[in-house]
Amino acid sequence: MKIGWIGCGRHAGEMLLPQLTRYPVTLAALCDVDAAKLAQIGHRYGVPESRRFATAEAMLAAGGLDGVGMAVGPDQHRDFAIAALARGLPVFMEKPPGRNGHDARAIADAAKRAGRPVIVGFMKRFSTANRVAINLARGFGCRASFLGQYMTAPTYFVGDPDYTGFYLHHCVHYLDLVPHLMGRPVRLHARKHLIAPGKLMLHLDFAFAGGELGTLVMGTNQSRATPMEWWQVMGDHERVEVRNVHEVRLYRASSFKVDDPAATLADGSDAMVWEPNLTVAANEDHKGYHALLGCWLDVLAGKPREDAPTIADGIAAMDVLDAMVRSIEAGRAMAV
Ligand SMILES: NC(=O)c1ccc[n+]([C@@H]2O[C@H](COP(=O)([O-])OP(=O)(O)OC[C@H]3O[C@@H](n4cnc5c(N)ncnc54)[C@H](O)[C@@H]3O)[C@@H](O)[C@H]2O)c1
Repeated sequence: MKIGWIGCGRHAGEMLLPQLTRYPVTLAALCDVDAAKLAQIGHRYGVPESRRFATAEAMLAAGGLDGVGMAVGPDQHRDFAIAALARGLPVFMEKPPGRNGHDARAIADAAKRAGRPVIVGFMKRFSTANRVAINLARGFGCRASFLGQYMTAPTYFVGDPDYTGFYLHHCVHYLDLVPHLMGRPVRLHARKHLIAPGKLMLHLDFAFAGGELGTLVMGTNQSRATPMEWWQVMGDHERVEVRNVHEVRLYRASSFKVDDPAATLADGSDAMVWEPNLTVAANEDHKGYHALLGCWLDVLAGKPREDAPTIADGIAAMDVLDAMVRSIEAGRAMAV
């Protein structure tokens, strides 16, 4: 696979390209408007200078690619994806897929015209612990409720009353994870609590078609040096929880132990806990970037993947995000 990559910034350099290049791919072209970043990443991966480009248009026009990946920003994801698709190239884009549902639909229309897939970087689905828990939750007789929190720090927002970046770059992850776990919400009530400038908390109350309950708290008022996320799906006499994308707890219909001197732990009914061995000398994938990019490469090769975060999922997440913003502004519940 000959991959062209747009955006040689922090996320591509530290997270995505190291994971992508563990697969048998050739980084065949690179693009960034910042010449220093382009040179740094080009040098790191041995991309010849003749295949390093200052504009996406020049990279796409040069040809010789099987697919295009990008980690730039909302407007560029929309524009560059549409340009790549117009040349018949499949796309991987980091989130967000544009600024809103309208942008995501424009990308989906271009994908349909080209007959090529677009995969969106919703890697929360692919974190090893999340994947274990998602599989468990899908095996429950019912998924009655979702409860979760996904925090960040005020770093980027202090003195900036515009929380668009928080919504588009942070919240959007869980606005994919919740529908992925529970189905698409039909209504959403988002309330905000402003602790101080830059320190925003959101409470989201999701309503689903089958009456299931969804509660999500997101905010910018925690230290990034602490674990940032926790979620739970409850069924009937069973619930699964994931803490800090690495610890999975499954609670089931246990029996009381107190009056049973011979009590042990019963297979099939007592709780189970899974955590990875963090000292093992192996490339771990707890955040899910490697599995996400492997999913893209499968899709590129024409292998069907039902867990692939497609641009249709991108539209769904952006529709929830749009409803969230409308609800915050109006102070009442909104249809999604
Ligand atoms: N999934 C995740 O965990 C995760 C984490 C961080 C960032 N991201 C996403 O990745 C994207 C990039 O984030 P980042 O932190 O790497 O930002 P960044 O600013 O470090 O990188 C963006 C790069 O794009 C380049 N760029 C900007 N405009 C360009 C243009 N018109 N043509 C070519 N290059 C251009 C910049 O020079 C920069 O090198 C964002 O959409 C962000 O939401 C995702």
